[in-house]
Amino acid sequence: MRGTTVITGDRTKVLPLEFARPLPVAVRGRGVWIEDADGERYLDAMSGGSMAATLGHGRSDIIEAARRQAERLSFAHTERLTNPAQERLARELVDVAPPGFVRVRFTVAGSDANEMAIQLARSYHVERGEPERWQVISPAQAYHGPTMQTLALTGRPGLHGPFGPYLPKHLHIPPSTWRFDPTGQAALDALDAALQEAGPDRVSAFFCEPISAAALPAYRPPDRFWEGLAERRERYGFLVCFDEVVTGVGRSGAWFAGATTPCTPDIIATAKGLGAGYAAIGAVLVREHVAEAIARGSRRFPLGHTWDGAPLSCAVGLAVLEALRSEGLVERVAARGPALREELERALAQIPIVREVRGHGFLLGVSFVDPRDGTSFLPPELRVAGRIDQAALDERLITLSTQPTRDGYAGDQTLFAPAFTASDDELAEMIRRFAAAIRRVADEVEAELAESATPCGGA
Ligand SMILES: Cc1ncc(COP(=O)(O)O)c(C=O)c1O
Repeated sequence: MRGTTVITGDRTKVLPLEFARPLPVAVRGRGVWIEDADGERYLDAMSGGSMAATLGHGRSDIIEAARRQAERLSFAHTERLTNPAQERLARELVDVAPPGFVRVRFTVAGSDANEMAIQLARSYHVERGEPERWQVISPAQAYHGPTMQTLALTGRPGLHGPFGPYLPKHLHIPPSTWRFDPTGQAALDALDAALQEAGPDRVSAFFCEPISAAALPAYRPPDRFWEGLAERRERYGFLVCFDEVVTGVGRSGAWFAGATTPCTPDIIATAKGLGAGYAAIGAVLVREHVAEAIARGSRRFPLGHTWDGAPLSCAVGLAVLEALRSEGLVERVAARGPALREELERALAQIPIVREVRGHGFLLGVSFVDPRDGTSFLPPELRVAGRIDQAALDERLITLSTQPTRDGYAGDQTLFAPAFTASDDELAEMIRRFAAAIRRVADEVEAELAESATPCGGA
């Protein structure tokens, strides 16, 4: 790596995520471009790296809204004082939420929004006189955050790492991908088995991403699964919670993916796109029966964090919603998304390690397989995901790849999730650089595999 301004694990007082990974130092951003301290410019195909910067970098309208609010009142805790920005943002979110959502509680991020969704589901049952309901069932191949409760929502020992002893024992079902369960029936059977194992009257919620992000990029279960889930909710009385931390606020081409899913959720947690990378803010939205259970019961849900509903972050949320509305960006994502997926698919069509290009709006994903049989996971020791991100960085493109192979449900895969404001030319250039990076890694990997024996399997 070039430059004196690349930070390595042994040259920083920051405890790094990975000691072995050198990091360029990002100093400014404009639109879909990020510049590092050496003046190198990177094309950002990942909305700031983690799908938050949905409006691109350096927007003066959002910065100005934040400045105006900070001058008036930046912070006042919401336990004893509410504020106009929080009140208005709650009203505006209810207006764009799927029908039936009536109340909003703000959070600081996605993980605490997910935790609050679990607490609200449990409170709903307790308030209605069913205190035995606490168990959560969720898809195994998911990511809901790094906190103990959100880690427990996945069934991935590889992600749990050494923290298993702290995690509550929730029950999990496999994903309905082409590999395991193309129709969704096996997942429904697994859901039935989990309901019986827990005892249906002890289950509080089914918790999932309506469209997966990093854990299984742009994967959405088949309609049959959603319909079966809705039937079982009706029969057994648990709630359905959606983690829309990524899909919420426009990413999938709808304000919330919950509006276009055959099973309407009872609770939605959202975050990233609400602050669009300009403020840390999340939100939990609830349907009327959930709010009513508390309003008629104890009339209290007092848990929260210091920054929940703060004037500054809510003012940013309001400016983000205004930008999305005035520029028709949710509509743009819906209209442009299908063509973007086709363009990506065409650009990657001749690359033998590419098995599938998925996409919903501006949330796209590519999954990779062993080219020797077109089916098996790539051998993990080839580190294909990490190599793709490095090759993309060499092309001055920011991507995010993962390799959850050891958990057994998915292999190497890459997310492609640009800002909604990216121009057609910028999208085309992202795809060109992305395809070049993948082609380079694929060529190397094919040569390496030619020297080794048979594929490593992986159902
Ligand atoms: C689907 C999903 N849920 C939850 C989270 C956690 O959100 P946060 O990092 O804001 O706590 C993430 C973060 O990447 C996510 O992708």
